[in-house]
Amino acid sequence: MKKILFIIGSLRAQSFNRQVAKVAKELIDNRAVVEELDYSSLPLLNQDIEQPEPKEVARIRKAVAEADALWIFTPEYNMSYPGHLKNLLDWLSRPVVAMDYGTPTCINGKKVAIAGAGGKAATAGCRAKLTELLTFIKAEVLPIQVGIAVPAEAWGTNLLVLSEEQKQELKGLVEQILE
Ligand SMILES: Cc1cc2nc3c(=O)[nH]c(=O)nc-3n(C[C@H](O)[C@H](O)[C@H](O)COP(=O)(O)O)c2cc1C
Repeated sequence: MKKILFIIGSLRAQSFNRQVAKVAKELIDNRAVVEELDYSSLPLLNQDIEQPEPKEVARIRKAVAEADALWIFTPEYNMSYPGHLKNLLDWLSRPVVAMDYGTPTCINGKKVAIAGAGGKAATAGCRAKLTELLTFIKAEVLPIQVGIAVPAEAWGTNLLVLSEEQKQELKGLVEQILE
């Protein structure tokens, strides 16, 4: 069975993006194995500690390499992606062996789906920049993306209830990634 690795771009316990991921997992049902990547202990990238490959980096790269596709659910921070998500992608973009730029990295050619929940613009700025970054590091970004504008009432309750229309949009992305 295919394996899809979820990457949540928010560290917040009640993250709306994690709530969207939960709905996506329900929509995938038992048609794929879904796991969430825990990258909360990933160090900040520093070329002084790149070699030898830190244990936590090796674990994360292995999880990415073993997945058939990645699905990023991310908020928008100042019209872009959160810094910790950039840090993760920077690690994934680097060679395992020093100065070896010929061997493909674990993100090279990997299919990546993008969804984002945020303010009124539904993370459009973030998704555009994330698409650019992922393309630069040679991932294959799937064309259908889903952006969700979190309604005002959700900010009070910390509960994001998706409309039928939004669920249908997510479903479209689910079918795309399962293909
Ligand atoms: C540093 C920072 C910058 C933000 N900038 C934006 C922004 O540019 N556009 C936007 O829609 N929301 C912005 N937000 C609000 C987030 O979209 C909002 O907090 C969202 O709920 C975070 O996602 P989460 O619920 O998954 O943690 C910003 C939040 C933070 C903390």
